[in-house]
Amino acid sequence: MSHRFRHLLAIEPLTREQITFLLDQAKPFQEFQRYPLKKLATLRGKTVALAFFENSTRTRISFSTAASRLGADQMNLQAESSSLKKGESLSDTVLTLEAMKPDAIVIRHGSSGAAEFISHRVDVPVINAGDGTHEHPTQALLDALTIRDRSRSFDNCNITIIGDILHSRVARSNVHLLSKFGAHITLCGPAMWLPRELDSLAPGIRRVPRLEEALDGADVIMALRIQQERLHEPSLSADEYILRYQLTPSRVRLAKSNAIVLHPGPMIRGLEIDPVVADSLQSCILEQVTNGLAIRMAILFELIAGSAEPQEQAKDSPHAAH
Ligand code: NCD
Repeated sequence: MSHRFRHLLAIEPLTREQITFLLDQAKPFQEFQRYPLKKLATLRGKTVALAFFENSTRTRISFSTAASRLGADQMNLQAESSSLKKGESLSDTVLTLEAMKPDAIVIRHGSSGAAEFISHRVDVPVINAGDGTHEHPTQALLDALTIRDRSRSFDNCNITIIGDILHSRVARSNVHLLSKFGAHITLCGPAMWLPRELDSLAPGIRRVPRLEEALDGADVIMALRIQQERLHEPSLSADEYILRYQLTPSRVRLAKSNAIVLHPGPMIRGLEIDPVVADSLQSCILEQVTNGLAIRMAILFELIAGSAEPQEQAKDSPHAAH
């Protein structure tokens, strides 16, 4: 089957084969991050537009660095200073960007469905860098790469995701990805943050409100960022969240002894995660960041150069530049 991608909007519609293909494509780029000279000419002459309508540090830097390391130029849309503030519609802003002829548009937006909306209006590949509470496909792919690298096969792997699942596009994309591969997923958090709709995705998905029970036998533990503004009396105070859901060393010991810990960042030490856990050998948090570069390089390469003629592609492959 063809693995060709026009856009990367979500994990949900992708097949296992397409996901595996993207993870495999990231392999050489993972190795590349260790090279002393981190510059390829693969996308020289191409331009990546970064349209971030929502604040972002790591995802934006990651896409920008990935584009630079492939040799691409960038166009940056700063949400605060853009004409959006002057009342321009999302559609007009993106069409204006497109008129400057980028070869791909990476978009982050606070509204669920924004990336797909844009993909129907432009002729270039669109990459979703997070849309509202919907999906964050590159995050789930980099998480999968990290899990696979620590020699966990997804099949029958026990994965516990902790926190505000309801508002988390990271959780949603991960649930879609991991359930396609037969992982056993446990969602844990305050009842008001555990969406029912995700249970129906795959037979293995459980909702477990008590963290101690949710961690029992886990191979992979994923703590989500908690938005402090969502923690308030009378529903749930920060102290209560910490007491019941913070990932502490004693709780991590309830999981398998070789369990790994993931967090998409930005992480709040002392809230969702104890600093001892964040800095432990079981923590893969910084590996996730490095893998983010590799997966984003692979995706930019695939969407921009992947549509080139095979001969042209071979000449421009990442391996050819070294
Ligand atoms: C996530 C996001 O923005 O969705 N961060 C990230 O991209 N690494 C997680 C979050 O902010 O909760």
